[in-house]
Amino acid sequence: MKMKKDWLGILVNDGLWEDIPRDQTGHENIDYYYESGQRYDLTPCFFRLRDVSLRNGQVNVLVKSEGRWKQHHIKIPRVVHNRAIFQSPLGYTYCKKLAEKGVSLFNFWNRYSKVEIAEILSLHKSLIQYLPMSDRFSLSQLAKMGQQYPSIMLKPDKGTVGEGIIKVDRITPLLWNVKYRSGRQLADHMVATGELYPSLKRLVGNRAYFLQETIRLATYKGSPFDIRVSIQKDGKGKWGVTGMIGKAARPGHFLSNVAQGGTVYRLEELLQEYPDLILGEVSDKLEELALNIVHALEKKLPHLADVGFDFGIDRLGHPYFIEMNGRDQRYSFAKGNMLDTWKLTYEKPVAYARYLLEKRKERVQ
Ligand SMILES: Nc1ncnc2c1ncn2[C@@H]1O[C@H](COP(=O)(O)OP(=O)(O)O)[C@@H](O)[C@H]1O
Ligand SMILES: [Mg+2]
Repeated sequence: MKMKKDWLGILVNDGLWEDIPRDQTGHENIDYYYESGQRYDLTPCFFRLRDVSLRNGQVNVLVKSEGRWKQHHIKIPRVVHNRAIFQSPLGYTYCKKLAEKGVSLFNFWNRYSKVEIAEILSLHKSLIQYLPMSDRFSLSQLAKMGQQYPSIMLKPDKGTVGEGIIKVDRITPLLWNVKYRSGRQLADHMVATGELYPSLKRLVGNRAYFLQETIRLATYKGSPFDIRVSIQKDGKGKWGVTGMIGKAARPGHFLSNVAQGGTVYRLEELLQEYPDLILGEVSDKLEELALNIVHALEKKLPHLADVGFDFGIDRLGHPYFIEMNGRDQRYSFAKGNMLDTWKLTYEKPVAYARYLLEKRKERVQ
């Protein structure tokens, strides 16, 4: 008799949930979940938080079987991979309740404060050299950092896809150039020192922002680039780097995010302009650093299992940690034609889910 497979729950946002039965999931490849599921004897099923009934321990799920999508009413799977991001804290409170019910819900907390992440990392002496200097956005800190660095960035603490980031360049000790996106254009104006803080404050409004030194990133055809590093737990519960892909800003821009017009490139291509930087050495260094960082973070952030780091490198190949993405959009690998890596970014969380299930079974026996 064929062994009964275990369920693997995948928690998704409304948008993706609606696209799934139409097989129009854009940047997410749902078939990869099923292919990996075959390998690990798991049946992926998709649901939103609102499909869960905590009271009776049941959930309505979408399942693909024989090429067709069907809805099923099942017991809440014991292992759930969170691929949703919640705008309100309520979503996370609900997730916590699921976890308290005994569900192994990995990656459930995935919207981190960039300042908090940097604070955790700065407690590790060996990591400080990889962290760009950051500080609170206040009049005094702006004055201090503005003297210390020729260029600083003003970033939203919980920003994504490059939204709301402002670049401030010192032209002379009394004159500053402020750059930010306005609609589809890049706005750009000169501000005198006395006007700098109020004019930035006007742009930022009440949102939580912080200051960060602008790293002198290595460039590709004149555009700064950085590198997305996917780092995930595997079928043995161990962290490993799944892949790396570079992204360069569009000409004249300072944000490499694809959503801001950035272009994806493989690392070997980006390094061509730097004959002194050897691909193997750069990627080994990034891999080692990514592992050190994730080990430092997971001590403070439970449930971490599948994240994407942005790393910058300077002309000498020195890496800088830019940010961690708690729900990594792995589509860049597809864009960079790294289909095997793209697929692997799906397979590893499925393998990890199998690992979690086996561990649970051991505990019960
Ligand atoms: N300190 C910095 N120095 C130089 N470039 C930066 C810096 N911080 C961010 N950037 C650029 O802005 C992009 C977006 O910043 P990031 O911190 O990753 O925010 P988001 O969450 O919006 O992607 C980066 O990918 C990089 O191109
Ligand atoms: Mg980013």
